[in-house]
Amino acid sequence: MKPNIKNIAVLTSGGDAPGMNACIRAVVRTGIYNGINMFGVLQGYQGLINDNIIPMGPRSVSNIIHLGGTILKTARCLEFKTEEGMETAFQNLKARDIDGLIVIGGDGTFTGARNFSRKYDIKVMGIPGTIDNDLYGSDFTLGYDTAINTVIEAIDKIRDTADSHDRLFFIEVMGRDSGCIALRSAVASGAEAVLLPERFTSTDELIAQLMLGASTKKSSSIVIVSEGHKAGGAYDIAKQVKERFDHYDTKVTILGHLQRGGSPSSFDRILGSRLGYAAVNELLKGNTRQMVGLRGNEIKSMPIEDALNNHNFKLESDLLEMTKVLSI
Ligand code: F6P
Repeated sequence: MKPNIKNIAVLTSGGDAPGMNACIRAVVRTGIYNGINMFGVLQGYQGLINDNIIPMGPRSVSNIIHLGGTILKTARCLEFKTEEGMETAFQNLKARDIDGLIVIGGDGTFTGARNFSRKYDIKVMGIPGTIDNDLYGSDFTLGYDTAINTVIEAIDKIRDTADSHDRLFFIEVMGRDSGCIALRSAVASGAEAVLLPERFTSTDELIAQLMLGASTKKSSSIVIVSEGHKAGGAYDIAKQVKERFDHYDTKVTILGHLQRGGSPSSFDRILGSRLGYAAVNELLKGNTRQMVGLRGNEIKSMPIEDALNNHNFKLESDLLEMTKVLSI
């Protein structure tokens, strides 16, 4: 079949996520395998505007499958939201005859891609890459699995010291609007409680839970606080609890950006490879303004519009209930 497209560019945008490099590798090599000229855009949409676009060959992506971060760099670009920014970006693509663009990122990245492809004649595919797992249309986003593994490795270490000193730890994890990382890490690390953006937990409720543990001779406890939790971050919650429940010596750890780094898990390497491969094939079929995602262990394509218009209520309610039951 004759491809509809001759030149494809790929970029990563927003927060980096482990597995992005595996995905870039898959995009570049799938394109070249199909006779397409491949380009990489450095620093996301900012690179499109600044004309930071480089040709890529199969060797440009050698030995990167195991690396965290993104070899293409990334940025959060406000200029791409303007008419002028988009126009400059389009001219830079046009100058190289680039007729397909693959963007790897989260909802901000997808909004940019949707707006750009509505205005200009360029075929666009989105690949969900964010540790937050907050995109509708993919059971898992790229980087989420690795981030959870990083978080539980850190919590396991904190548990050693919490147990040795009989302490209560509040551990804050990432997830601007999504409690996915917090919830899965809580189950996987055996945390006593978890506070999520999607569900309000009162201080009374939390204290009651901790008291129950103390009354049954729990010598230490761990509470996971999602950074998006509405009643405050780990420091605020720790303070509120300590004022009324001082059974334990209380400590706080903010895991921060270490959650975004590190070598991707096998799951994220395979997911990145599958999504990159599928995105190029969708463009070759002539599809545009779509997102490829993982659904029930199959890679499926759906309109980017749907991913943006549906809030992602992915929170697994059985896990939430389980946290409570299994931590008695
Ligand atoms: O979107 C991923 C994420 O890591 C969020 O969990 C977090 O709130 C945000 O990015 C942090 O962004 P930045 O690195 O720009 O501070």
